[in-house]
Amino acid sequence: MDIRFLGHAAFTLTEGDAVVLIDPFLTGNPKAAVSADELNPTTILLTHGHPDHVGDAVAIAKRTGAPVMATTELAGELAEEGIETIGPNYGGSHSFDWGVAKYFPAWHDSSTPAGKANHPAGIRIEIGGAVVYHAGDTCLFSDLQLVGRAGPVDVAILPIGGHFTMDRHDAVVAADFIGAKTIIPCHYDTFPPIETDANAFATDIQNTLDATAVVLEPGASHTV
Ligand code: NI
Ligand code: MN
Repeated sequence: MDIRFLGHAAFTLTEGDAVVLIDPFLTGNPKAAVSADELNPTTILLTHGHPDHVGDAVAIAKRTGAPVMATTELAGELAEEGIETIGPNYGGSHSFDWGVAKYFPAWHDSSTPAGKANHPAGIRIEIGGAVVYHAGDTCLFSDLQLVGRAGPVDVAILPIGGHFTMDRHDAVVAADFIGAKTIIPCHYDTFPPIETDANAFATDIQNTLDATAVVLEPGASHTV
């Protein structure tokens, strides 16, 4: 299973014919590794309704027919665009032909593109025999421990840029809570307020936990 970082919080998880696209903010993203029309996902997963996460989801879904999974209110609103949506809430999961995606809480604020309140989430994803947790935009909070209690996580994708999310120091604690052996940082260096030192984060993970941080340049991949 291939995990490709597309810049900011956008990733693809690829296993065989399945291409799972997460938080496809590409248009207007100064760190985007690809343009939206280069992607042909089979499924799109969204953590929350902020524009740097919904991004190009609707346009990609319209072009490819890929269903979009989003939390309930956001899924309902996106369905009005004429795309297929799946809208579980926290604790809810959905089985796809490639695996399972399940929503956990994230501590953050969020609104839909139309300005309605929206619950932000993290997503636990079972694909290709691996478990990946994309934490979305969250601060550090103790219930991240429950993610690991739901079953071992192989790869945790964590925001480290601070300002809107946890910073790289809190992300070391979050990594410990989740218990993954591999940590991929994201949501940093896209804009000035979230600039941070990802290599220092990787060193702190190495020195503090029995885990490894894999710092990916936009466009680079990690294979599990
Ligand atoms: Ni956000
Ligand atoms: Mn964000």
